[in-house]
Amino acid sequence: MKTIAVSVATVMMCVMMIHADVKPQRDFSLQKFAGKWYRVGFAYDSPGFALYRDKVKISMGIITPLPNGSANLTMWELTPFGCMTYMYQYNKTSVPGQFTYFSTRHNMVKDITVVDTNYTDYAVVLKHKVFNREYTQVALYGRSQRVRNDVLQKFKAFALSQGFPKETILTPPPAENCPPSGSGR
Ligand SMILES: *[C@@H]1O[C@H](CO)[C@@H](O)[C@H](O)[C@H]1NC(C)=O
Ligand SMILES: *[C@@H]1O[C@H](CO)[C@@H](O)[C@H](O)[C@H]1NC(C)=O
Ligand SMILES: *[C@@H]1O[C@H](CO)[C@@H](O)[C@H](O)[C@H]1NC(C)=O
Ligand SMILES: *[C@@H]1O[C@H](CO)[C@@H](O)[C@H](O)[C@H]1NC(C)=O
Repeated sequence: MKTIAVSVATVMMCVMMIHADVKPQRDFSLQKFAGKWYRVGFAYDSPGFALYRDKVKISMGIITPLPNGSANLTMWELTPFGCMTYMYQYNKTSVPGQFTYFSTRHNMVKDITVVDTNYTDYAVVLKHKVFNREYTQVALYGRSQRVRNDVLQKFKAFALSQGFPKETILTPPPAENCPPSGSGR
């Protein structure tokens, strides 16, 4: 019994340490990161979310840098209630590529780490470094709705390495009319 408890604790520790070890993109540039992104991949293991997995569509976001190094994020997400717009403020931290924001859904401050991006094609973003099934997500953003297969594979490998089971790693289909056509996007 004791052995089992110890090994579970060890596994938990390892998971946490993997997370604590994630570093942001080297020489991160918010100016280059700015603009339009599509969330083309998504890993999320919350039990409450499992029901919605097959309903997720690609959402779109626009990052607008602020003069003090923080950023605004506007997201368009297709939900059961229609195409919703969400606005977030990403506060800069002392670490370039790492931000904090207030999650209205979970009523808490979360950290965001841009783990890997080449700015022109893709970005892998980790939400909440301390692993918690309810709060932690990994997202793959693309400048267009399709990214190259090697980028997709890299994202999947990263999500697996962070402890996400395979079935929780999604590559959703495009959203129809979200953001609505005619909204200038
Ligand atoms: C950022 O978002 C805030 C709150 O929605 C808004 O008042 C502000 O004008 C935005 N700034 C920029 C540069 O878009
Ligand atoms: C950066 O500027 C925005 C908009 O003026 C402000 O709301 C935010 O608190 C500032 N962030 C930090 C970390 O000072
Ligand atoms: C953002 O920064 C402002 C100013 O420093 C602070 O009042 C606010 O609590 C911060 N919000 C988050 C989510 O970190
Ligand atoms: C960014 O990544 C894509 C896909 O791997 C690649 O085709 C492109 O050349 C890269 N761009 C730069 C500037 O590295």
